[in-house]
Amino acid sequence: MAFWEDWCKRGGCCDCDGSCSGKDCAIWTAVVAGVGGLVVLLVFAFALVFTPKVRAEDAVLQRFALAPGSPASNSTISYNVTVTLSLRNPNLYRGINYDPLAVAFSFNGSRFDESATVPAFYHRPRKTATFHITVGGADKPVKLAAAGVTAFKTQNASAKFNVDLRLDTVMRYKGRTTRCPLAVICPLQLQLVDPEVAATVFQRTKCTILRAKMSGC
Ligand SMILES: *[C@@H]1O[C@H](CO)[C@@H](O)[C@H](O)[C@H]1NC(C)=O
Ligand SMILES: *[C@@H]1O[C@H](CO)[C@@H](O)[C@H](O)[C@H]1NC(C)=O
Ligand SMILES: *[C@@H]1O[C@H](CO)[C@@H](O)[C@H](O)[C@H]1NC(C)=O
Ligand SMILES: *[C@@H]1O[C@H](CO)[C@@H](O)[C@H](O)[C@H]1NC(C)=O
Repeated sequence: MAFWEDWCKRGGCCDCDGSCSGKDCAIWTAVVAGVGGLVVLLVFAFALVFTPKVRAEDAVLQRFALAPGSPASNSTISYNVTVTLSLRNPNLYRGINYDPLAVAFSFNGSRFDESATVPAFYHRPRKTATFHITVGGADKPVKLAAAGVTAFKTQNASAKFNVDLRLDTVMRYKGRTTRCPLAVICPLQLQLVDPEVAATVFQRTKCTILRAKMSGC
């Protein structure tokens, strides 16, 4: 109470020739807070942009076999992988236009598959888009480092492999002209499917977003 009275005496909110009441002040305060809230909401909706959020929702590894070469860079690999990715556009108002997304799989830092792409699409605000990516190959050359062969043998013992999925694209927020390069890295832990075991569990994985450090992105 004392606060409102002080404020009034200093000419705070209403004409204070004795007629000011705490109720008027409270109404004015509510109005000011309401307008402030609206401004914050508009800033979030229109002025700021947020990068998409990406997750690997599911993945199945049916085959992952390495034939170590000598040198190691002369190795070959046979594999079948299916990954379900979800992309969420967290923006309240802004859609996102994506160029085609190039998909690359790598093991121990060496790429072994670059065959898949996700077609260009328009991502509506607040929506989640889901994609299934399937790649496979038999005896495909992979330029492994010597450590890569060691890593394979170690992981082969438990039939659990660390495979990185990377997406590269260029995106543009609706209403802006800047084309923003975007890279997404999903570190997948894939358990080889064992026909003797009913189901393999995939731990849902959050992917890392590498956004371009340029204005408008
Ligand atoms: C790599 O493997 C191929 C086929 O097995 C062979 O012809 C070639 O000589 C090898 N390269 C090296 C550098 O060993
Ligand atoms: C490759 O495997 C080796 C041996 O396990 C490990 O020390 C190294 O960090 C791995 N490199 C990458 C890029 O994963
Ligand atoms: C694995 O991939 C190869 C090459 O794409 C394909 O021929 C084969 O049918 C696939 N196997 C399975 C079990 O999906
Ligand atoms: C990987 O493990 C499988 C099954 O245990 C085995 O048949 C294969 O020879 C192993 N591969 C290598 C390169 O060690």
